Amino acid sequence: MEKRPRVGELPGPRAREIAGEAQRLIAPLTQDMEHLPIIPERGEGPWLVDVDGNVFLDFSSGFAVSSLGHAHPRIVEAVKRQAEKLLHFPLHDFYLEQANRVASKLLAHNPWGDGGRVLFQNSGAEASEVAMKMAKHVRGRARFLAFYGAFHGRTQGALSLTASKWAQQAGYFPTVPGVVHVPYPNPYRNPWGIDGYEEPDELVSRVISFIEDLVFRNNPPHEIAAVFFEPIQGEGGYIVPPSGFFRELRRLADAHGILLVDDEIQMGLGRTGRFWAIEHYGTAPDYILFGKAVGGGLPLSGIVYKEGMGYSEYGYHSSTFGGNIVALAAAEIVIGEAERLLPHVEETGRYLGRRLREVAEGRDKVGDVRGLGLAWALEFVRNPRSKEPDPEARDRFIKEAVRRGLILIGCGDSAVRFIPPLNVGREEIDTAMDIVEKALDHVLGPRGG
Ligand SMILES: Cc1ncc(COP(=O)(O)O)c(C=O)c1O
Repeated sequence: MEKRPRVGELPGPRAREIAGEAQRLIAPLTQDMEHLPIIPERGEGPWLVDVDGNVFLDFSSGFAVSSLGHAHPRIVEAVKRQAEKLLHFPLHDFYLEQANRVASKLLAHNPWGDGGRVLFQNSGAEASEVAMKMAKHVRGRARFLAFYGAFHGRTQGALSLTASKWAQQAGYFPTVPGVVHVPYPNPYRNPWGIDGYEEPDELVSRVISFIEDLVFRNNPPHEIAAVFFEPIQGEGGYIVPPSGFFRELRRLADAHGILLVDDEIQMGLGRTGRFWAIEHYGTAPDYILFGKAVGGGLPLSGIVYKEGMGYSEYGYHSSTFGGNIVALAAAEIVIGEAERLLPHVEETGRYLGRRLREVAEGRDKVGDVRGLGLAWALEFVRNPRSKEPDPEARDRFIKEAVRRGLILIGCGDSAVRFIPPLNVGREEIDTAMDIVEKALDHVLGPRGG
């Protein structure tokens, strides 16, 4: 496969034909042929080839799923080997040796020391749903807290926790009652106008006081089962909270017997340079949700939870496909590789961060550059003082980058995320940054202009 970006007409003739047919046959959901006119045919590592032979560098990793790159040979081999033996047998009704192996590997990273268990599902939304059910069951409480900007999935329960775009909610009210949202400690833009990079403790204390002084007034804390949070908000804009925040949230939760549910569906499994992103914050949640990357491209998700925080008897939950045996075979490889790549992610992530700061320098319409490990974002603003989001500039930038052979996806109101595979090399980052520089020049005008 050719390993340099090469894009001709976009969408090409074959892509137009397929899209035309799809627009008659396939449910219109979040496809966006205007900005991301890509119909893939095959991939290798960070490279993706579309049905017309255009070659892209993929810094979206298929929405943070293909964390070892496309068609990783060890994943392909493990999947083939398992598929030849057995494609399916329901894990929730029987025990599978493969599930024990994956559970042991995940539990080796549990932040509370010994013990713990794993419940396997298929999608991220399902993991959120089941965590809600399990927290209700364990605590005998039915209220929840979540954060503005959060994304926990789009099924009815998960959607009640999600609050990143109004379009996700429009027409679906009522979802699950009893969920209250509070501001996320966003250092760049928060309701109090605090510069959270300069004054992280002030921002942490405002969010905690908001919950204690306002939210608890009409949401009795002893009726709250759990707080759902992302250790770095993903769909909400790749927002990295101050380092002391989750310790304070833990303290508050403990004071009222509230469980902490850490949604690592996007940020877990090495993406931030630690196995779980919460490890950056020196605190331990009660549940960790995983999904996306774990199945290496096959659907797999679940919950790692502390002993005593799950079902103590049989029969309270089950689903046919949760923990598919082929996806589990892929997960064994993904987890081992993610562990091995942690130092590489830290080092390459620092390099990506430095290069992004360089390309953003002297461009005041790039308001913020933020990230950890290989999870970075640039945020577009109309004016650096008002910080008014500029989604049009962001969308034009994504379109321009794709036209030049770099696949990027948006997040938040006006940010764009950079999430290459964990095994990306410096050379590929340099190739991507050349494209970013040109696309920024095209959309915002030359640097300093
Ligand atoms: C943090 C987080 N939680 C949950 C989900 C939902 O996962 P899925 O799309 O697999 O239902 C996502 C998906 O983007 C996510 O980023």
